[in-house]
Amino acid sequence: MPLIEIPLIGLGTLENKDPSKTPASIAKAIELGYQHIDTAQLYFNEEIVGKGIQQSGISRDEIFLATKVSPVFLQPDDVKRTTRESIDKLGVEYLDLLYIHWPAETYEPQSTLDAFNEVLEEGLTKHIAVSNFTPPLLDEASAISKAPLIANQVEMHPLLRQNEMLEYVKKHDIYLVAYSPLAQGQVFEIPEVQEVAERRGISEAQVSLAWLLSKDNVIAIPKATSEAHQRANLEAAEIKLAPDDIKLIDSIEDEDRIMDPYFAPDW
Ligand SMILES: NC(=O)c1ccc[n+]([C@@H]2O[C@H](COP(=O)([O-])OP(=O)(O)OC[C@H]3O[C@@H](n4cnc5c(N)ncnc54)[C@H](OP(=O)(O)O)[C@@H]3O)[C@@H](O)[C@H]2O)c1
Repeated sequence: MPLIEIPLIGLGTLENKDPSKTPASIAKAIELGYQHIDTAQLYFNEEIVGKGIQQSGISRDEIFLATKVSPVFLQPDDVKRTTRESIDKLGVEYLDLLYIHWPAETYEPQSTLDAFNEVLEEGLTKHIAVSNFTPPLLDEASAISKAPLIANQVEMHPLLRQNEMLEYVKKHDIYLVAYSPLAQGQVFEIPEVQEVAERRGISEAQVSLAWLLSKDNVIAIPKATSEAHQRANLEAAEIKLAPDDIKLIDSIEDEDRIMDPYFAPDW
């Protein structure tokens, strides 16, 4: 079992930054029961997401709030300055989780991780983690960091099954936080996902999320702005797929990675 418990379905917020709609949609999600919210400096929406959290009226300790330091701010002074800025924008006193967004640009393992450990010791965040790290990069980072890196947030869905990273997180008792868990809509077109959806009388989105949550140590953070999608995704946490359903999705051979910027590591 990993060190701490994190709500298994979190709310992704990439591209959710319309000042006239986003706060209400975040507040609605919280009202429906979301207790884990994922944002990032790079999404340029921390202030708007923060407004939604405040609007919901939920008490701070009932929300697991995660943000990520941009790859251009991974030098020590920038880590400290921008983490404080993120906290201010979000309108909170502390974060639950602070990620290194990508092992890229200004990332320098020793000094970046030292800075992450400092903001942790200062109480700016309760936990630290990484995103888009490969197993060797995670080995290196974990060896340097004094505090445990509790998660690796990586792209995962039926078209990117992450078998190696699944083994890794199990072995090291950390979380794999699955981003783009619906492959931004592409999972709806996969015949195997459609077959399971029909068999179980659930949506393709729910198949993808229930399949992800059938794996040890996996958390999923689908982005949903509409109430219907938010509700359906939250319900997926209660759906248990049959072993045959899981096997069918495991057997998909097609592969597609959505997020592969020029600075991505050698996957
Ligand atoms: N660490 C990283 O580098 C990284 C990279 C990418 C993403 N992320 C995080 O992961 C989160 C999720 O990934 P994502 O935003 O790329 O894509 P995603 O969650 O795979 O897909 C989001 C899309 O699916 C739609 N959708 C959601 N629930 C649905 C449902 N039940 N039925 C039908 N359609 C549904 C959404 O529509 P509506 O909005 O209209 O509801 C939206 O268009 C991001 O928001 C972000 O927080 C992290």
